[in-house]
Amino acid sequence: MRPLPQWSTVAVDPPQQVVTATLRWGGNSADVTADHTVASLNPLVIATSIDAGQRAVLEYHDRASGRLLGVLRLVQMAAISAENTSLTLYHVAAGGHRCLVWPRRSWNAWLQNRLMLKNLATNHLNTDPAAVQKLMIAYLCPRPVVLVSVDAPGRQNIFPMDLIGPLERSGFFSLALRSTNVSVPTMLEQRKVVLSSMPAATKAVVYKLGAHHKEPLTNWDALPFAVRPSRAFGIPAVAAALRVRELAIVHSQEIGLHRFFLCRVVSDEALVEGAQLHHTGGFHQAYRLRQGMPLTEI
Ligand SMILES: Cc1cc2nc3c(=O)[nH]c(=O)nc-3n(C[C@H](O)[C@H](O)[C@H](O)COP(=O)(O)O)c2cc1C
Repeated sequence: MRPLPQWSTVAVDPPQQVVTATLRWGGNSADVTADHTVASLNPLVIATSIDAGQRAVLEYHDRASGRLLGVLRLVQMAAISAENTSLTLYHVAAGGHRCLVWPRRSWNAWLQNRLMLKNLATNHLNTDPAAVQKLMIAYLCPRPVVLVSVDAPGRQNIFPMDLIGPLERSGFFSLALRSTNVSVPTMLEQRKVVLSSMPAATKAVVYKLGAHHKEPLTNWDALPFAVRPSRAFGIPAVAAALRVRELAIVHSQEIGLHRFFLCRVVSDEALVEGAQLHHTGGFHQAYRLRQGMPLTEI
């Protein structure tokens, strides 16, 4: 028996509407579909604009049926303040999902964990199987993939990210990037990045650019697609992007193995309508297949 794939690459019209996220605490609740992001993978930390107290629960529901798909149990870690606005960081203490029926749920997790432990040396996530299981629940809301451009004299780069997102109520946009990424020093110095939302059909080229997490880009002309200067910063963005956003970095801090950047959106150009490349959990796609409504796999 083989486990389900951990991740599924899918085409979704942005912003994704298939799954909603609800934060619940002490008799209160709030829709955080566009107000929670991953701040760090190890430990697994979620950021939100809402202060939901010491303990809260994050629920993911299928929007069409209202069915509960998964739950993360959160414990408050710290608050972050930037530009007179505060955010809350929550450690993910526990989690569970209902995408597979018992006993397949436990059996699949056991098979996935066994494979992860076997591949530990090449496991790019650098985190333990229990944290990856919880991360797959956080990916029940399909996460959009963008290419991030950074530019400084002689230190340009473009690489894929999906640990990104708006924190709606605060107006911030966050990015969680491994501290070892070659572009972190450039981002800390320049305090500017450009995000190109990538069409679903560009999967192969996007994955190839994953190499630029480790090696900077030698020359913008070396890319296999056309770029054009972004509106205010003049940083090269993908010419065929669905949407291009320029972000000013206003705060950053290390959380575990990641650097968590808080940004303000300086410009936002919606260029073309179309499906964007997204990631979701493999068990989420298995659930949708069983319901006869799979997301389009790329
Ligand atoms: C589509 C895609 C999205 C990614 N998103 C992120 C991200 O949001 N944050 C991050 O730190 N790394 C991201 N990565 C990079 C990888 O997780 C990993 O850091 C990279 O391949 C280098 O791995 P290593 O330094 O552990 O060897 C992404 C890679 C791909 C292909």
